[in-house]
Amino acid sequence: MISLGAVQAFIQYSQRFTSPVIQIAGQMNVLQSGIVSAGRVFEFLDAPEEPQLPGRPGESAPDGTAPARRVRLEQVSFRYEPGTPLIDDLTLEAAPGRTVAIVGPTGAGKTTVVNLLVRFYEIDGGRILLDGVDYRDLSREQVRRNFGMVLQDTWLFHGTIRDNIGYGRADATDEEIVAAARAAHVDDFVRTLPDGYATVLDGEASSISSGQKQLLTIARAFLADPGILILDEATSSVDTRTETMIQEAMARLQAGRTSFVIAHRLSTIQAADTIVVMDAGRVVEQGTHQELLDRGGCYHGLYHSQFSDALAP
Ligand SMILES: Nc1ncnc2c1ncn2[C@@H]1O[C@H](COP(=O)(O)OP(=O)(O)O)[C@@H](O)[C@H]1O
Ligand SMILES: [Mg+2]
Repeated sequence: MISLGAVQAFIQYSQRFTSPVIQIAGQMNVLQSGIVSAGRVFEFLDAPEEPQLPGRPGESAPDGTAPARRVRLEQVSFRYEPGTPLIDDLTLEAAPGRTVAIVGPTGAGKTTVVNLLVRFYEIDGGRILLDGVDYRDLSREQVRRNFGMVLQDTWLFHGTIRDNIGYGRADATDEEIVAAARAAHVDDFVRTLPDGYATVLDGEASSISSGQKQLLTIARAFLADPGILILDEATSSVDTRTETMIQEAMARLQAGRTSFVIAHRLSTIQAADTIVVMDAGRVVEQGTHQELLDRGGCYHGLYHSQFSDALAP
């Protein structure tokens, strides 16, 4: 098994020249599947970048707001291991500013879809389009800088709170850091700490709750200001007040951005513009909450088995 030290070394290594997304994707993958995948990461980081295209996809709109982004997967197929097909004929579109909720049992392929969206892996068939441009006509960096991620396992590193929020934005000013923390409802909390933004986070020994950690990663996403978000909804329990703060901060973060949410909460799923129900690498159903309920299929079953208690008046 790969050591945490190696993971941290990897993060520091990749931090020098990549956007946050790849580090997270890399970190997830290293942790999930060990040294073989780490090899793939390095191979992947070392790959030459394709030439820049005109109309840089990561560029902010003239008014300074994050541009909304359309993402379309067309008949995508993908497998991690030769001979073991996983994603098959996946077609899915997220319109600018809309929210796509991805639901399905463990092993359905939800995380895999995220890995493909941020181009951590290359697809085997079909195509993925970012505002109509095929991923293959963009460099990985051009794809990735459009994405921000707030994942369930918060990915804070050993360093100050300031550096953690500023991760991937080495040029950020103190004012920008504080503004991002305010937007994420975490500035007040940081100011209660004796060292404030200079507080060093040190993994397990840290006195910061999981809810506050999540808010810090939301602050990081605010600062990065991406057009597209990937959110993995936390299932770990936090106190009600923090939960409310997280939900408000997330909603604010999502405003005007396209988002893919690996969703666990009924409220999120119901509010999504599109729900994608996955099973065994396939999209088995796609539609709004009401459409899928009316269809009486897989989602209907999932809904009644998982959420009926929550719904009882
Ligand atoms: N890096 C990997 N290498 C090989 N197989 C993988 C890898 N990651 C995930 N898988 C397999 O792909 C399938 C889908 O996994 P995943 O996308 O993580 O599902 P979910 O996020 O819906 O639980 C599972 O069978 C899983 O074991
Ligand atoms: Mg997963």
